[in-house]
Amino acid sequence: MAGFSDRARAIKPTGIRRMFDLAGDDAIQFGLGEPDFQPPPVAIEAFHRAMLDGRNKYTSTGGLPELRRKIAESWSHLEEGLDESSVCMTMSGTNALLDIFLAIVNPGDEVLIPEPYFPLYPPDVVICGGNAVTYPCRFEKEFVPKIEDLESLVTERTVAVLYNFPSNPTGATVTPSQRDLLVAFAKRHDLWIVTDEVYDKIVYDEPHVSFLGAGYDKVIMLNSFSKTFAMTGWRIGYVLSPNKEAMEQVTKMQYYVTACSNDAMQYAVLEAMERAHWYPDHMRIEFQARRDLITRRLNGMDGVTCHTPKGAFYVFPRFEMPGLNSEQLAFEMLNEGVLCSPGSAFGSAGEGHLRFAYTISESEIDRGMDRVEAVTKRLRGLSQDS
Ligand SMILES: Cc1ncc(COP(=O)(O)O)c(C=O)c1O
Repeated sequence: MAGFSDRARAIKPTGIRRMFDLAGDDAIQFGLGEPDFQPPPVAIEAFHRAMLDGRNKYTSTGGLPELRRKIAESWSHLEEGLDESSVCMTMSGTNALLDIFLAIVNPGDEVLIPEPYFPLYPPDVVICGGNAVTYPCRFEKEFVPKIEDLESLVTERTVAVLYNFPSNPTGATVTPSQRDLLVAFAKRHDLWIVTDEVYDKIVYDEPHVSFLGAGYDKVIMLNSFSKTFAMTGWRIGYVLSPNKEAMEQVTKMQYYVTACSNDAMQYAVLEAMERAHWYPDHMRIEFQARRDLITRRLNGMDGVTCHTPKGAFYVFPRFEMPGLNSEQLAFEMLNEGVLCSPGSAFGSAGEGHLRFAYTISESEIDRGMDRVEAVTKRLRGLSQDS
């Protein structure tokens, strides 16, 4: 009988998109995680040129060798021995994540996933027949996981642990010593480390701490040009691993998922890496000023506590609003013309929080924060009166 798969029925639509679909055109947009910049002009020109030059065909599954070599080279200060066979181009980080799980997860296998999480992680494990087991990243610990929590969740079915620093939605990063403990945990249990480093170029205060080059070869990284060069709509990313066998399996999966990445676009990304390598830094400087502003505004509100994020472009403040869950609170914000995401869209550990993407101008942030402050005052006034 014609029906739908258990997996399709089990997976729910994301709570981020739901708010987005309900928002009016005049809402102040703290909702979606995409830079409000355009890709570097040299990349747009190179994309155009490549299409005119006939780069409109399938490429090899792994992608353009010059680009893969360039990407391998960009990580070679951390990891020796990387070359073009260490990289597989994909059509986004989203595509890369699925390729990786398809390559390493068997039905019934368990993958340790951080919570709060980027909403794709658990469904992607489920699509591959596995079970997503979440480990807590607590507000009190600045969203860095505790090794005891991870240890308590390992079973004989655990095959991988996913780390995401800088994190969406929390903006957390790790120090080198915290990273070393997380690597040692994976080594102890012979687990794959799947490391999502799509925000590696958007870090403040301290340099990015990667899971590459930490002395473990069962590391598979997914990355993307969505955030690095403000190319969210272009859909281009990659998988990189020092582990040759992993790359063979991942690349094979990529063939069956999309065959290859986009031909002309790979030339555009190569051009961006060669001639606009300053670009992510230019965005980061702007994001840092916004981060400082939004964190200061939120911490100035009664009943709101916000860590200063160390990377990405999200804040994940805690709201003390008795009697209201995060979805109801996000609706209250939406009624006042502020679009943000309820913390529960990132797993139940996100309850009590809202996520604000600071991908709008400082004046818009200020205007939005005035509204957020008015809502919190009204709601706290109400709950104190009742
Ligand atoms: C943590 C994280 N990983 C992966 C992605 C996927 O990025 P894309 O599919 O645009 O490359 C995103 C996008 O928001 C993200 O926040």
